[in-house]
This record gives sequence, C-alpha cells and structure tokens, in this order.
Amino acid sequence: MDTIEVKNLSFSYGAALALENISFAVKQGDFTGVLGPNGGGKTTLIKIVLGLLKAQKGEVKLFGKDINKFDDWVKIGYLEQKNTPSSLMPLTAFEVARLGLLSSKKLPKTFNKTDNETAENIMQTTGCLPYKNKLFYELSGGQQQKVLLARTLINKPSLLILDEPSTALDSASRENFFNLISSLNKQNNITMLLITHDIADIGKYVNNFLILDKNIIFYGSKQKFCGDKKAEEYFGPYTPHLMDHLHADAKSCPFGRHQ
Ligand SMILES: Nc1ncnc2c1ncn2[C@@H]1O[C@H](COP(=O)(O)OP(=O)(O)OP(=O)(O)O)[C@@H](O)[C@H]1O
Ligand SMILES: [Mg+2]
Repeated sequence: MDTIEVKNLSFSYGAALALENISFAVKQGDFTGVLGPNGGGKTTLIKIVLGLLKAQKGEVKLFGKDINKFDDWVKIGYLEQKNTPSSLMPLTAFEVARLGLLSSKKLPKTFNKTDNETAENIMQTTGCLPYKNKLFYELSGGQQQKVLLARTLINKPSLLILDEPSTALDSASRENFFNLISSLNKQNNITMLLITHDIADIGKYVNNFLILDKNIIFYGSKQKFCGDKKAEEYFGPYTPHLMDHLHADAKSCPFGRHQ
C-alpha cells in the first residue's frame, strides 16, 4: 500500500490551470524533495493531498483510502508555507508546541502533566526548549519554525509534509533542521514530503525528487535524476548554479550522479 497515491489529477483556480494530469505514488519511508519554480503548483498539490483543496479531476489516496473518505488526519503532520503569528494570540513557544496535542483530544480539551512533558521532550528534539517561555510572535522566523515543527511532530505523524520550512533558517540552522528531519525519516520511518528551493542542500538527504511545473517534469529516485536528460535540461535554466556545481566537482555532486 502506498502512503500517497495521486492519479491523473488536474486542478484549476477559476480558469487558470495550476496542475495538469499529475500521477505519482509515495511509499512509506520515502523522503521526497518537491522542487519547481515559483507558481509551479507545489503548494496547490499538497493542499489537495491534505484535503484542503478539492481537485476537479483525478483521484488521491492516503494510506490506501480515498481522500474523500480519509479521516485519520492525526497521522499527517503539515508545516505550512505561510505563518503569520499575531500579537492578538499571545501564546508562549511552549503553548504553541503543545497545541499540536489538541487535535487528538476529546472535549473538554485540557492538558495534563504527561502532555507538558511530551511537549518539553519534543521541543528538546527540535531545539526550541531554551526559549520555551518566550512569546511566540516575538521569536525570530527560524525560532518560530522550530516551535511549529515541534507542534507538528508531537502527534508522531507517519507522514510529514513540509512546505519550504528552511526559508527562514540561517545556514547552520538549516543543516541542523535537515539533519533532524533526515534522522526522523530514517529512525522512525516517517514519510517526508519536503518542498524546498534549497536544491543543492537537500540532495544528500532525500531519496526521491518530484519536480513540478504545472506538469510533472520528473519523478523518481535521485540516482535516476542525475542521469535524466529532461530533468537536467529543465534544471539548467532554473538554477544554473546547481548545474555548475554538479558538473564542476564530481565528488560534491549532491545527487549522487557519480556514485
Ligand atoms: N488562492 C489562489 N487563487 C488563485 N490562484 C492561485 C491561488 N493560489 C495559487 N494560485 C496560482 O496557482 C499557481 C500555483 O501556485 P502555488 O502556490 O501552488 O505555487 P508554488 O509552486 O507553491 O510556488 P512557490 O514556490 O512560490 O511557493 C500560481 O500561478 C498561483 O498564482
Ligand atoms: Mg508554495
């Protein structure tokens, strides 16, 4: 059974076609880097996979179940692209991380000692425990991202979807972040769908690429990617520095072309 199965999916915003005839399947434990230009349809695709948008054509299955019947959302963690914290919600970092537990609680939704310990443990894992008592909206973008990751991980998802999570991170934090999600993928077999523009960085962590520009330009393993003419031709104009990097130094090829 595939974790995500998408078949012949098309989606338009009004008359504007955003995704055309998309088909792919993700297996449990896959770590897929989703790449493509701005406006290529990446966020739209994952919103459909998360049931937040409904495709006009095609089908989506999650854990083998049609999306229209799927109700086990606690299995899926989602870190969304836009995050606009407001001073109208003066929650601490700890309170925001702990909020993740709400979705699986029955009414009345109260927190106990175990919940608090769980929240602290997960904050330790994502590296945001040192500022647990600070107001969330006063944290830097990168610090907020670690808190939001803790909130997402607290339910132990089987599938984690991350939409440009590293944009606000400095290079050391970005490497830590990728190492963290990579170890979650390896140790807990969490399926990862990582949308990113950090192409050169993620090559060493992911094992699959999905390249999206309204259509699927490429979907498959990174080994296959490195020899794929269409993907390379497409990527050349998109990120010239990546291609330079690939060709300039065989040893540093992030996608394993020469391995
Ligand atoms: N709510 C909306 N209403 C109308 N059009 C939209 C809406 N959201 C996205 N679009 C359009 O759909 C296309 C795909 O957008 P999407 O946000 O999925 O791209 P993306 O690949 O995530 O881009 P980015 O890398 O900039 O995040 C774009 O042309 C965009 O303008
Ligand atoms: Mg997007």
